[in-house]
Amino acid sequence: MTETEETILIQADPEQQIAHFLAARSFSRLGVLTDANTFKACYPRISHGLPPHASFTVAAGEESKHLDTCSQIWKWMTTEEFDRHSLLVVLGGGVLGDMGGFCAATFKRGIPFVLMPTTLLAQVDASVGGKLGIDFGGYKNHIGVIQQPMATLIAPAFLDTLPEAELRSGFAEIIKHSLLMGQEEWDRVRAKTLIQHNWQERITSSVAFKKSITTQDPQESGLRKILNLGHTLGHALESASFHSPKRLLHGEAVAAGLVVESHIAMTKGLLNRPAFEQIEHYISGIFGRPGQHIPIDHIVANARQDKKNRGNKILMALLKNIGEPLWDVEVSEEEIRLSWRVYTSGQM
Ligand SMILES: NC(=O)c1ccc[n+]([C@@H]2O[C@H](COP(=O)([O-])OP(=O)(O)OC[C@H]3O[C@@H](n4cnc5c(N)ncnc54)[C@H](O)[C@@H]3O)[C@@H](O)[C@H]2O)c1
Ligand SMILES: [Zn+2]
Repeated sequence: MTETEETILIQADPEQQIAHFLAARSFSRLGVLTDANTFKACYPRISHGLPPHASFTVAAGEESKHLDTCSQIWKWMTTEEFDRHSLLVVLGGGVLGDMGGFCAATFKRGIPFVLMPTTLLAQVDASVGGKLGIDFGGYKNHIGVIQQPMATLIAPAFLDTLPEAELRSGFAEIIKHSLLMGQEEWDRVRAKTLIQHNWQERITSSVAFKKSITTQDPQESGLRKILNLGHTLGHALESASFHSPKRLLHGEAVAAGLVVESHIAMTKGLLNRPAFEQIEHYISGIFGRPGQHIPIDHIVANARQDKKNRGNKILMALLKNIGEPLWDVEVSEEEIRLSWRVYTSGQM
């Protein structure tokens, strides 16, 4: 077992992992929360390791990450007579982790919960750092809290059943982490194609990195903003794609965001061309050129709405070099338009 931090454990066998965790503790009630897909694909892989427990399944997907689903979860916990000595095990991707964690953190002012992330994105990103919440009124993650789980138990074995598009989507966050970490980690990542990677190794190093950043700056007052690399453009694209014929997965939008933001960094004289070319070449080899169908006006309008902006300035995390991120760098609308034109022209 690898222990990257007190509460994050990475182990091959999820059944042993949860059984081991529970054997050392006692709870008044135990509940397992799944979505329709993780109930089928993941729950059978841990159920024999669990003592008697209640379970509840919600609909899968971002559309269910809202207050009505929380009501169902809180009702279920009430019916099952959960109290503050009960444990909720959340078995799912980032949607369920954010929402199930939020429900536990607010039920009776907070009961303990354990995250068992089952997507690559949740294993390397969403389940680390304590951000919990739901979408509200059309805004993503609009209502939420920051609260750590009692433990995060990560088992790469769950990735066996994950659709390849979802695996690739999560890989965008590993690419992002490696670009922030430095040349050595970036070289390790770009030396292999998606399917050649050893997930146990990549998850271990990604998690350790994200944890080290979020521990230093839990409230995102400075340093944590580097984790937004690729995400200002990425989020703008992702939201714009919801109104387009082809909705992008989060990681596809982030992949495009990493390339375009790196181009912006190069035009600003920060990133050098060989480093930019490494990034562009590797990412387009895995993702192609996602988002080209999206009108630039929609992207710019969304980038203007980014939570992280100050006044009417668009602020981004940009690379000065591999492993040397800057944050709160001001970027003009013209700079975004120029790099987007180059991205969609295929002439990078
Ligand atoms: N809290 C944070 O810091 C943070 C960070 C990044 C993203 N997020 C959130 O994470 C969410 C996205 O997470 P996601 O990409 O994991 O999406 P997701 O939870 O919707 O999972 C993607 C799909 O895969 C299915 N699935 C999950 N595990 C499976 C498995 N092992 N086998 C087969 N199918 C499986 C799910 O049912 C779903 O249909 C977004 O809501 C985003 O806001 C949160
Ligand atoms: Zn992301």
